[in-house]
Amino acid sequence: MRSADGAEIITVEGLAADDADRTLHPLQAAFKRHFALQCGFCTAGILMAATEYLDETTAGGARPPDEDEVRRLLSGHLCRCTGYEPIVAAIAEVATALQLTGIEPADIEPAETEIDRMPPGGAEPSP
Ligand code: FES
Repeated sequence: MRSADGAEIITVEGLAADDADRTLHPLQAAFKRHFALQCGFCTAGILMAATEYLDETTAGGARPPDEDEVRRLLSGHLCRCTGYEPIVAAIAEVATALQLTGIEPADIEPAETEIDRMPPGGAEPSP
């Protein structure tokens, strides 16, 4: 059995910035842009799982996001509202943006991130 004693535990409330506006984490902002939540029942669990996924897969721009992996990630979550497509789009958008910018997920400053200013679908390709 694992113990949480001494461990740092981050909940979905901890994703947003600790500023006066409680600026959304880029993943939360992407969920908002893509209408990836409705009732919110599933949202906290999916956001936390997706955050871990991004930490593992996009650190250092290691590799591009994999839509099949995102869909497998979601297979453990039940969303009765969205049909999953907007959730996949939101996660893929942030994963692509992180991979393109090379920003480490752990270094995201929600109040300053460029990711939130990127249009849905990620950045424009470089000429
Ligand atoms: S938004 Fe309602 S269950 Fe997912």
